[in-house]
Amino acid sequence: MGRLVQNHSTNIEGLIKWLKKIAARNEIKTVTPASLSKTNGRGEKLELKITVKTNEGYKLLARKGRLVQEVFLVTSLADSEIKKIIEDHNYNYYVLDNPIISDKEWDTLFRELQELERNNPSLIDKNSPTQRVGAKPLKGFKTAAHRIPMLSLANAMNEDELISFNERIKKLLETTHKIEYMAEPKLDGIGVELIYQDGILIKGLTRGDGFEGEDITQNVRTIKSLPLKLLGQRFPSLLEVRGEVFIKISDFDKLNETQIKKGLQVFANPRNAAAGSLRQLDPRITSSRPLSINCYEPGVIEDKNFKTHQEFLFYIKNLGLPVNSMIKKVSGAKNVIKYHNTLELKRNELNYEIDGTVFKLNNYIEREKAGSRSRSPRWAIAGKFKAQQVTTEIVSISVQVGRTGALTPVAKVKPVYVSGVTVTNITLHNQDEIERKDIRIGDSVLIERSGDVIPKIVKVVKRNKTVSYTHLRAHETKANLVCRLLLE
Ligand code: IVH
Repeated sequence: MGRLVQNHSTNIEGLIKWLKKIAARNEIKTVTPASLSKTNGRGEKLELKITVKTNEGYKLLARKGRLVQEVFLVTSLADSEIKKIIEDHNYNYYVLDNPIISDKEWDTLFRELQELERNNPSLIDKNSPTQRVGAKPLKGFKTAAHRIPMLSLANAMNEDELISFNERIKKLLETTHKIEYMAEPKLDGIGVELIYQDGILIKGLTRGDGFEGEDITQNVRTIKSLPLKLLGQRFPSLLEVRGEVFIKISDFDKLNETQIKKGLQVFANPRNAAAGSLRQLDPRITSSRPLSINCYEPGVIEDKNFKTHQEFLFYIKNLGLPVNSMIKKVSGAKNVIKYHNTLELKRNELNYEIDGTVFKLNNYIEREKAGSRSRSPRWAIAGKFKAQQVTTEIVSISVQVGRTGALTPVAKVKPVYVSGVTVTNITLHNQDEIERKDIRIGDSVLIERSGDVIPKIVKVVKRNKTVSYTHLRAHETKANLVCRLLLE
């Protein structure tokens, strides 16, 4: 089955451009110009100027520098194929990070499909690349149960705890051999579940409380790197995968620039931006946010058995699902630690935020043997990174009065980005803390923040000699008294 395409250019240059475009895609099969054998008024044959070689021989497109009226080409591309071409380009671009056509060429293809669908509405199907944002805003999210609960991960805070984890696993599996793990980055995003039925994305759920999540199907459908239809020919009737939705750092910066331009509020960090975008009731808003996803765990998968996690990851990657490229198989405690430390060093070079590593038993039978606790599996652990430290400068110190009248000195610092948030204020707790660390206005200070923990000053790294102490003590008692009286 071919597809009829028509040239809309009114000049030779336009025609040539059009021809080049379709020729580049090997589309030309037949040419059916409307007026091939016309003669001029005197019965003379007109000089031929442009011909194209097609599957059915040479065809005339223009003569004497003028276009043949209404040039139609029957291309070898069926309607479904132009969709397939766009899907393949999306996969190269979003999943493999390796586009093979320019953005402009992609736009042209996309518009061609849009036009085709506009002219032939019967061709539009729900899974066409043009239909990612098809749905209307919702009033609220429905909830749905996970077939298998979405557990969370236990943490190892340091190397010793990673070693203990490995020892625990050896005991559970009653072995003294080296254990094989799949080592993965712990992505700092939002956990989701995707459900494919016969290769078609039919549902997306948030993790929720682990047992029941919110139905965010129309929002996950807008994630460009996620196939609406899996690649290949044969799919399990049901395939559930879990993954993390996140925003790349470069995309996050661009998003915030746009927010500023539009006079909207900026997002504090990529994770918040991803979470907020995924929970929009209007999928058009979600669609305008640059969400990415990496898949990392199976849910229920029918008609298919995997021996190892490595095998599972390989399988879903071949179906077109995005899988993180830093995932590696490691054996034994020494290599677990090595992977963790190497990734921690590389952390700042990555274009996405990670807050640790995850080690998972590779062998699925061993996973069953190890079992799960109520909230987390025994067969996996999250290795947390040390708190990130950065330097900044103390701009001023002021005193905040709390609800109970307690006075707390707070340092205003030059805004710095650390572990996912921009820090502008840091509590100094009390005068003792200020004196112990000898913190003065204008000092350069090292600050740290780990996970959800409030930022704190580790130490002064460069003294501003011109400023004397900040004395609060003298006023503390009196102010406390006044505040208490006011409250009583
Ligand atoms: S596996 C039973 N793999 O971390 C195992 N989770 O604290 C379930 N996360 O809720 C999760 N990167 O949202 C897994 N490579 C990874 C991950 C990952 C990030 C998140 C996930 C999960 C949370 C657990």
